Amino acid sequence: MIQCWRLDDARQTLVLGVRDGHLAQAIYWGPRLPDGENLETLFAAQEIDVTGGMLDVTPALSICPEARRTFSGQAGMELRDDTGRPVLPVFRFESAAPRPDALTLTFRDDGNGLTYRAHAAIDPQTHVITLWAGLEGAQPFSVNWLAAPVLPAPQLSDEMIDFAGRWCGEFQINRTPWSAGMRVRDNHTGRSGHEHFPGLIIPCRGATNTKGEAYGFHYGWSGGHKMVAEELPDGRRQIQFGNATGIEPEARTAFETAPLYVTYSDTGLNGCGVAFQTHVRDRVITWPDPDRARPVHYNCWEAIYFDHSLPELKEIATRAADLGAERFVLDDGWFGVRDDDTTSLADWVVDPRKYPDGLTPLIRHVRSLGMSFGIWFEPEMINPDSDVYRAHPDWALGDADQVLGRQQMVLDMARPEVRDYLFGCIGKILADHDIEYIKWDHNRVLPAADAGQTRGTYALLDRLRVAYPHVEIESCASGGGRIDFGILQRTQRVWLSDSNDALERLKIQHNAALFLPVCVTGSHVGPRVCHTSGRVLDIRFRAWVAAQRHMGFEMDPRELSAEEADVLRRVTAWWKANRNWMLRGDILRLDAADPAVLAEQHMYEDRFVVFAGKAGTSTQISPRPLRLTGLLPDAMYRIDLANRDEIARAALSRGPSALKSGAMEVSGRYLMHHGVTLPWSFPETMWVIEGQKL
Ligand code: DGJ
Repeated sequence: MIQCWRLDDARQTLVLGVRDGHLAQAIYWGPRLPDGENLETLFAAQEIDVTGGMLDVTPALSICPEARRTFSGQAGMELRDDTGRPVLPVFRFESAAPRPDALTLTFRDDGNGLTYRAHAAIDPQTHVITLWAGLEGAQPFSVNWLAAPVLPAPQLSDEMIDFAGRWCGEFQINRTPWSAGMRVRDNHTGRSGHEHFPGLIIPCRGATNTKGEAYGFHYGWSGGHKMVAEELPDGRRQIQFGNATGIEPEARTAFETAPLYVTYSDTGLNGCGVAFQTHVRDRVITWPDPDRARPVHYNCWEAIYFDHSLPELKEIATRAADLGAERFVLDDGWFGVRDDDTTSLADWVVDPRKYPDGLTPLIRHVRSLGMSFGIWFEPEMINPDSDVYRAHPDWALGDADQVLGRQQMVLDMARPEVRDYLFGCIGKILADHDIEYIKWDHNRVLPAADAGQTRGTYALLDRLRVAYPHVEIESCASGGGRIDFGILQRTQRVWLSDSNDALERLKIQHNAALFLPVCVTGSHVGPRVCHTSGRVLDIRFRAWVAAQRHMGFEMDPRELSAEEADVLRRVTAWWKANRNWMLRGDILRLDAADPAVLAEQHMYEDRFVVFAGKAGTSTQISPRPLRLTGLLPDAMYRIDLANRDEIARAALSRGPSALKSGAMEVSGRYLMHHGVTLPWSFPETMWVIEGQKL
């Protein structure tokens, strides 16, 4: 007997089916099926044939493939009982609870006393399907691996795209060809990590940013994930996501996966990117004040590091406000005796040497300039050289002789007394001051990954957010070491990278746009000589790259020449004039014909802006036209250069390129088929083209 259920939105259908009471299988996931499609027929239609060298009945690629049913690929769970013996369940269908746009399926393994539940919910507006699984037992059992409901990967696909990275080099794209066997990412750093962003895109053959089919996956968990992309000997392909293996050291009677967010796109990689961007912005994040414009940030880290002086900070704040900053963030160094990174983490008391009258004089000054105030914490960390460590050495995770990271250890967030202590001291700083923003840092990997740590951090964040609902939080971990939808359920911004090198940032944020919207992605104008690369970049390029996302500044404003300050003021004013629509818009990555150009189109309703960043030197001598996307072919658009004042800097441009002299009106079809012919420019510059439907 076959039973099937379907989840639909306007562009995709996911069909789950159960046969003969076995675990469900995702028998179809792709473009929206006709309403009248017979799902039982589809169940039979998708079954593969059997030939020599195969089992007599092909084991199902179910939502949790079962080793006991002779499934020889990666099984969906790896369990042990309380004596340490492997448990190999075989589940029987028990019930289905279909609701509009959602479905829960329950299965039982009576022999082992286990209940497995799979949940799926589709969001018709964002096109994201959320899946998660739970497992309950009559007796405690331990879990080495539990996959969120498993989905098949498309056959007409030659490669998969996942993400690697490093400090100052996040969101590097890996393209791995499909071949027999598994590609496994098992992240034991204890955080989502620079190295292991928990995302996967599977493009079907021929897909580009703007065209073709693609499947997107993101696992919303901050404690380190495992991904398995496997091609079985019979050619079927499966995708599994769950918490990293072995990070649940305790036996319990119930376990749950984090949510797995997936989407099918027929508009290229951008269809996945926009679905995830929209879902993060409109569903995952909760904003203290959703109608408030995102303020321009000033962060003092690269201006002063640990060298805090009230008069200097006041002067910096005054200059930052004059440039257009609206929120001043006091970074590391304000507490304990923290004159460098060897000491004081966990001693969250204002340093009276640096702030004899507390933080209030600085905050008052910042407020008098019309800016709000934010402050840095690194709550989960402790220096061995700290009062708290001396009083509670047992609060630190791991062995006393462990290898330190940035001279620090990690607090055991699973302990309620540690969370109470942190809630108390962070709460006191928030309650005693006019503070509306926390930059929440996390600068080392765990000595050993443990899911309890992540749950403890989530609990502390949740408690602080209830007590101080007006406070926004930024997730930072040496830059982009903790970016995922789990942390974004509790925060409102990510510090994408410690690289304020605009050239690096251009690339990092372009790839991150496959998952992250403008409004959460921090991007700052750094110093003239970049502190992490030594590269010297013009202020125009630095400013426009920051203006592509949630804009801020991080240089010492006293280093700016009058001309540089003027440029920055103008670009910031442009950002403020456009942020209301840009922050609600989609980032569409363009398929630039010239690999030296990294271009994206930010689009909201009938309006768009194209940022065409020149990331290198072109091989050909003249710029190739840049095709736009997502326009109405028969509509007319007015396009114009937003930074025409920079033409003079493109000193070797001496031809008639139309955009140099003024706006033009052309059809969407022309823009999407022929593209915009850009004026010639130097590398490390940006053309900014505004567009409006007429
Ligand atoms: C690492 C962060 O990524 C930086 O932005 C800065 O906050 C430092 N930590 C402070 O120690």
